[in-house]
Amino acid sequence: MSAHIIDGKKIAELVRAEWKVRAEKLTQLGTKPGLAVIIVGDNAASGIYVRNKVKACNEVGIYSEVHSFTENAQQNEVLNCIQALNENPHIHGILVQLPLPPHFENNRVITSIAIEKDVDGFHLYNVGALVTGNTVFSPCTPYGVMVMLEKNHIPIEGQHAVVVGRSNIVGKPMALMLLEQGATVTICTSKTSNLPHFTKNADILVVATGKPRLITAEMVKPGAVVIDVGINRLSDGKLCGDVDYDSVKEIAGYITPVPGGVGPMTITMLLCNTILAAERAQAGIKNGKSS
Ligand code: GUN
Repeated sequence: MSAHIIDGKKIAELVRAEWKVRAEKLTQLGTKPGLAVIIVGDNAASGIYVRNKVKACNEVGIYSEVHSFTENAQQNEVLNCIQALNENPHIHGILVQLPLPPHFENNRVITSIAIEKDVDGFHLYNVGALVTGNTVFSPCTPYGVMVMLEKNHIPIEGQHAVVVGRSNIVGKPMALMLLEQGATVTICTSKTSNLPHFTKNADILVVATGKPRLITAEMVKPGAVVIDVGINRLSDGKLCGDVDYDSVKEIAGYITPVPGGVGPMTITMLLCNTILAAERAQAGIKNGKSS
């Protein structure tokens, strides 16, 4: 039997409609949520992501501004910009689009963002908060995956979740969030020896490796939930995920397509985190404490 297809676009629309109401309520109270995006250099993919983020902000009633720096910009210029945004009461979320040019120190830049405005959840404090189950902001892509599971009433507690990929943006926070919800979690990489042994034992399989069609039908347990975070452009210009969709959908119980699966959820969760940051600011909450 063919898998149930998890429609990320549809879930993203539902979630955005829910949060748009919250943004409107805040705006009526005098706090219009605001997001600042910093982009350094001319990475084409980053440029597209940033434009999509700005467009999505407009659609749900979030004010947004983009601060663009050239590839040769000095780190201090960016740090000064972040400092000003930290102090700007109209800005509730700050996002530095990654990757940064090689002469930048990622952690130096990210840890200069105020903790309560770090809507990506990449600040080392927020990473530690996630590890210890005191989440301030859930990183957007794994957060989107969790919402997709929830909206499809997929149980997590007691299930064996296998995450393939160990990036700071997806794999590691994904594993932690599944663990927090009571899953038994195995983390693999695309280089894990005997990868099929692990993936075949997964009730929930999340793949984020950037390797086109790494996961084939023989690697999947019948009825498993398969979440494909990959988005790869093939030489013919077509997009594909890290999962061989056509074969795996005949085996899995649930599957996400590419495009139209996890992708639309990532930006949606960024909007949610920005509105959440604005709600906290409105309520006078800073670093989890009322002021
Ligand atoms: N580059 C690729 N994905 C992301 C993301 O989720 N956040 C940021 N800031 N940069 C990225």
